[in-house]
Amino acid sequence: MTANTIHAAPRRLGANGPEVSAIGLGCMGMSDLYGPADRDEGIATIREAVQAGITLLDTGDFYGMGHNELLIRDALRQHDRDELVISVKFGAQRDPAGQWLGYDARPQAVKTALAYTLKRLDTDHVDIYRPARLDPNVPIEETVGAIKEMIDAGYVRHLGLSEVGAETLKRASAVHPVSDLQIEYSLISRAIEREILPTTRELGIGITAYGVLSRGLISGHWTRDRATTPTDFRSRSPRFSRDNIGRNLELADALTRIAETKGATAAQAAIAWVLSRGEDIVPLVGARRRDRLDEALGALRLELTDDDLDTIERAVPADRAAGERYDPRQMQMLDSEK
Ligand SMILES: NC(=O)c1ccc[n+]([C@@H]2O[C@H](COP(=O)([O-])OP(=O)(O)OC[C@H]3O[C@@H](n4cnc5c(N)ncnc54)[C@H](OP(=O)(O)O)[C@@H]3O)[C@@H](O)[C@H]2O)c1
Repeated sequence: MTANTIHAAPRRLGANGPEVSAIGLGCMGMSDLYGPADRDEGIATIREAVQAGITLLDTGDFYGMGHNELLIRDALRQHDRDELVISVKFGAQRDPAGQWLGYDARPQAVKTALAYTLKRLDTDHVDIYRPARLDPNVPIEETVGAIKEMIDAGYVRHLGLSEVGAETLKRASAVHPVSDLQIEYSLISRAIEREILPTTRELGIGITAYGVLSRGLISGHWTRDRATTPTDFRSRSPRFSRDNIGRNLELADALTRIAETKGATAAQAAIAWVLSRGEDIVPLVGARRRDRLDEALGALRLELTDDDLDTIERAVPADRAAGERYDPRQMQMLDSEK
């Protein structure tokens, strides 16, 4: 069992959302997108996270095409469901080989996807349900209207959104309160600070931040020669490309040097920096193994003074990462980048 039981105060997601642990666990990499994963270790990691006090688990029905939900179901068999907040994304369409086919967030697709998710998770409700992306063919009011119906029927507790911009946040909030926006936010991905974060704050919407370690890039564990499989997200990510990786690893090295002066690791400093950005922000860490989880939880014990934060931001300036956070085709799907 981890030595890192969470003592940090919980955080509330949005004005009307659930209270969750200060750090959430993102389970995606245990099934998909980061190369081969070890199922038993994934289950052990989820169990250890819950034992340590993590109450927020994030998944998507398309992470391993149902694999990730079944993994979570198996990990939580003995656990009291009511102590946990499970966040599920839907809408991404994939073929049997895992190729991306687009998004479907029509009302009938919302309800169908939810029915399958409830079966796979073996639960009677999802705590936060969200479209993974804005479906360009469906007005957001129709998608969130269907989720609202599912909330009224008791199958869903809260409405969430993912990677949408300020305008969509406003339109969705007019239909039903949004608990949290899930969006990439890290030392090297700070675009939300311009318009999106002020809007979530104005509307009383929380942030569940992903990519806090920029998918491992600023964790201190990535190396230039680390091999990726063709299905690994990072094999197509501009920030990991041959042209950009050197410059980005210089930023990671700079972070490591500062973290070491605090007796911490780069991953812990990166997570602690996101935690410091506001009580309305909950970092989702993508730990796939117990050792990585232990390290991530250590971030909660790292206190960054204003001077530390200045030093970090001077060493890893906001606009310095080389390359966009997604490839051009996926960037086009991001309402948050429009
Ligand atoms: N809404 C969306 O569009 C969206 C997109 C992506 C992710 N998400 C959600 O957010 C979660 C987290 O996102 P992410 O995977 O991008 O997160 P991340 O935490 O930035 O990156 C996870 C990667 O960092 C590596 N890592 C190294 N040290 C680590 C440590 N101490 N703790 C955790 N990871 C460490 C992991 O290791 P190894 O490779 O060595 O195992 C893993 O490959 C996902 O699981 C998913 O639930 C949402």
